[in-house]
Amino acid sequence: MFWIGSDNPDGRSFHGISTPRGGSYNSYLILDDKPALIDAANKPFFSGYLRSLQSAIDPSEIAYIIINHAEPDHTGALTQLLTLCPKAVVVCSEKGKELLVAAYGLSCDFLVVSDGDEISLGKYTLRFIADPMVHWPETIMTYCVEKKALFSGDLFGTEISHEALFADEMQPFDDLTRDYFALVMRPLLHSVKRAIDKAKGLELSFLCPSHGPVYRKDIDKIIQRYEYLSGDPQEDKVLVVYETIWSSNRDMAKKIACGIQDAGFCAEVYRLSESNMVELMAQALTSKGIILGSLTILGGYHPLFETLFCFLKLNCQQAKKAAVFGTYGWSSAAVSKLTKRLEEDLKYDVLEKIDMRFGPKTPEDLNDLYGFGRSFVEKIKADDPARKSDKG
Ligand code: FEO
Repeated sequence: MFWIGSDNPDGRSFHGISTPRGGSYNSYLILDDKPALIDAANKPFFSGYLRSLQSAIDPSEIAYIIINHAEPDHTGALTQLLTLCPKAVVVCSEKGKELLVAAYGLSCDFLVVSDGDEISLGKYTLRFIADPMVHWPETIMTYCVEKKALFSGDLFGTEISHEALFADEMQPFDDLTRDYFALVMRPLLHSVKRAIDKAKGLELSFLCPSHGPVYRKDIDKIIQRYEYLSGDPQEDKVLVVYETIWSSNRDMAKKIACGIQDAGFCAEVYRLSESNMVELMAQALTSKGIILGSLTILGGYHPLFETLFCFLKLNCQQAKKAAVFGTYGWSSAAVSKLTKRLEEDLKYDVLEKIDMRFGPKTPEDLNDLYGFGRSFVEKIKADDPARKSDKG
């Protein structure tokens, strides 16, 4: 079993996810009487992929190319690959065949598989597991029975470069898994939970996703991380997102953050116009509360908040606590409109509001902001069932 993938250490964005440690598009080769490739290649990386493949096998000998997922990061170079693999049969779901033909006009031989179907490569058996909508409607996973290896497609992935092949040889990357999960998996929660359950029902010696490292030790850890992120993952932290023009809302956010920290929670503070939306979405997913702050501009809040709201909705999350702060010059609107949007559209419970004309000017104003942050955390704690039972 070989990793024949493409590494992209310099990539800094994937699907809009910030990727400070690069990215990777994994493909795997199983050498047997009928050699099989699992997933193809991302087109811009095809030359490196081909070198890697040719170092392990003459591509003309490949009998099967299994396509777990038709998205271009795994199939963009499939057409070129097939010209080098004249004997290869493309194995995929019915929906996968439809998408591949539509995307690339393929006229190769297909073997359409359903949940539980198996093919023998000789010594090894591949079993196919349907997991539609993880991340597209055609997705399947492939399980090598004798190797106890699950090729899980996007599931259990992290967008990170291969600093090492195996997860147990890499520096921690939990936050990167969180960000990838938030955008690629969280909006498809029902399908993702079902697929995780299917994976948990398998005996696993190797877990081989399409992105990020391969797991051979502590495989439970990445499965548990995915399960945690599929639930209601709330840490003792508050996400503070503000936008400002003349710095008042920045100053307010800083003082509120002091109150949050002194109340015992972590404060994650971001300026909206300088932030990655997926990171904000992931931080919101894993926070116990969010605080939004905006100047009043043109009779409302800063328009960038509209984009943030779209991303927050993708979190498909249970009701959460929120607070709102803002500034205004001649007429106040941002605080009331942010509150209305949070409560009515996103179903947040807005616990605190503070609005300051031309921002904080006196020590009393700063003290009020400190108290605002502190009080928000105290209210979250008071309403936390886990803390209540601890006291009990
Ligand atoms: Fe890695 Fe959904 O593609």
